[in-house]
Amino acid sequence: MDFKLELADKLSKALSISTEEAYAGIEIPANSEMGDYSFPCFKLAKTLRKSPNIIAKEAAESIASEGIIESVESLSAYINFKLKKTAYVQNVIEEVLEKGALYGSSDMGSGKNVVMDYSSPNVAKPFHVGHLRTTVIGAALYNIYKFLGYNAISVNHLGDWGTQFGKMIVAYKNWGNKDLVEERGIKELVSLYVKFHDEADKNPVLNDEARNWLLKMQEGDGEALKLWKWIVEISMKEFNAVYDRLHIQFDYFTGESFYNDKMWPIVEELKEKNLLVESDGAMIVDLSEYNMPPCLILRSDGGTLYPTRDIAAAKYRKQQFDFYKSLYITGSEQKLHFAQWFKVLELMGYEWAKDMDHIPYGLVNLESGKLSTRSGNVIFMEDILNEAVNKTKEIIEEKNPGLANKEEVAEKIGIGAIIFNDLYNSRIKDVLFSWDRMLNFEGETAPYVQYTHARAGSILEKAGDFDYSDADYSVLTDDASYEVAKLLYSYPDKIKEAAERYEPYLITRHLVDIAQAFNKFYQDNSILNSPDAEKKARLKLTSAVKQIIKSGLALINVSAPEKM
Ligand code: ARG
Repeated sequence: MDFKLELADKLSKALSISTEEAYAGIEIPANSEMGDYSFPCFKLAKTLRKSPNIIAKEAAESIASEGIIESVESLSAYINFKLKKTAYVQNVIEEVLEKGALYGSSDMGSGKNVVMDYSSPNVAKPFHVGHLRTTVIGAALYNIYKFLGYNAISVNHLGDWGTQFGKMIVAYKNWGNKDLVEERGIKELVSLYVKFHDEADKNPVLNDEARNWLLKMQEGDGEALKLWKWIVEISMKEFNAVYDRLHIQFDYFTGESFYNDKMWPIVEELKEKNLLVESDGAMIVDLSEYNMPPCLILRSDGGTLYPTRDIAAAKYRKQQFDFYKSLYITGSEQKLHFAQWFKVLELMGYEWAKDMDHIPYGLVNLESGKLSTRSGNVIFMEDILNEAVNKTKEIIEEKNPGLANKEEVAEKIGIGAIIFNDLYNSRIKDVLFSWDRMLNFEGETAPYVQYTHARAGSILEKAGDFDYSDADYSVLTDDASYEVAKLLYSYPDKIKEAAERYEPYLITRHLVDIAQAFNKFYQDNSILNSPDAEKKARLKLTSAVKQIIKSGLALINVSAPEKM
């Protein structure tokens, strides 16, 4: 039941505004003493030619306290509503339990394709902690959009082409060992890459050789392509291992190489549209009119560049998916890159350029201090995941050594802690990577929320099966229980807001709020020892909380173990 809609309906009649306008204006007062919902009248002063206080007063007097409304009062420019608590709580809990895992979902996105480009690590380079953010933010947005009925399409734009491959091939041919590469994977490739740079400093001829191999790749030379493919495979094995542990799948792995044959038509088109100009032998699109440096399209040696590939990829995606939106999740240092080539598409006359969004995010700061990392220092994701799980195992050994499936639970908590920590603040803020903080079972963390979920589960398990039909909801009108119900009710709105603002943290925080409110409820009320009709109502609330925590955690890709 949509209480807000019921209030909006009354407001629309009292204020002669549309229901939509009324609905959009309804707020939740910071101080719950004021009421459960309120409507500020400031904006209406101009059209109604009255002071906001008078508008609020007159409207409050004209709205009857009926249906779900317990009372309506005005306070300065606000119309404040209090709802009938028992009916409210009953409605919310029953709806949550009835809709089950679908509570909060929607079909608002039906028929709309949203392409999401995220993770996209670079082949032969480590999947490092800097790629963590794009991966977890992207995966969360993907889940959120799907939940709202959009047809989300995830694309991994692997960095699988470019100068580094010429160097890799030279290094491998000179100093590489097949078995060692197959055994050590990317770590070995990175060592070879480092060796290449050391040697090339002494012997610059190596750079020419590397350029030659890249040229061979571009010309389709068999040996060059075979080596390139092998290097991609070695890298993919490791990327997939990380994705598996994070429970992330991609609909498409179309890396930069995929666009090799799709760039020349773009270059031609830019020429035809008189957008390409020469500058020091390179070809660029001049963007000075828009206060941006030029967008580089062709290098002086004819090689194509990162923006050229992105333009080709965007056009391909539009043709392929006819997207409603196309999103790119990368670090904020790429802001200019996206602004530039979005502008180029616009200049090419594509009105759908406005449907593309760059979604930037801040750095990961390691606790040890100065290390700000996005790509600089190499800290392998796999090592981080292992460390999280090992640390969690130690905590479990200490807290609950008799737990069944310790390994499996540790994996869920450890990895969940990393993801949750990453999604705890607005994405543009830097993330502090602190083990103590993210693994604190009493903090605003995954383990805390997961633990609350398991606690709710154990209460329900102890209660066993019984007939809930005559639950007495009037016992859920105390502050703690009522607060829980309100948070459950606003969960669907949080999901929509998270999608609209591309901010998964709104869900993460909401889950912490629910867990905290539930734990307060648990402290304030006896559940299993209360009289039958009361017990049933409290168990229903417990069950609704458990379900929403599980659903919300799943949206941000965190598992909810039944026991921990
Ligand atoms: N491979 C790039 C990096 O690691 C990210 C690619 C992002 N996607 C794109 N279409 N430009 O920084």
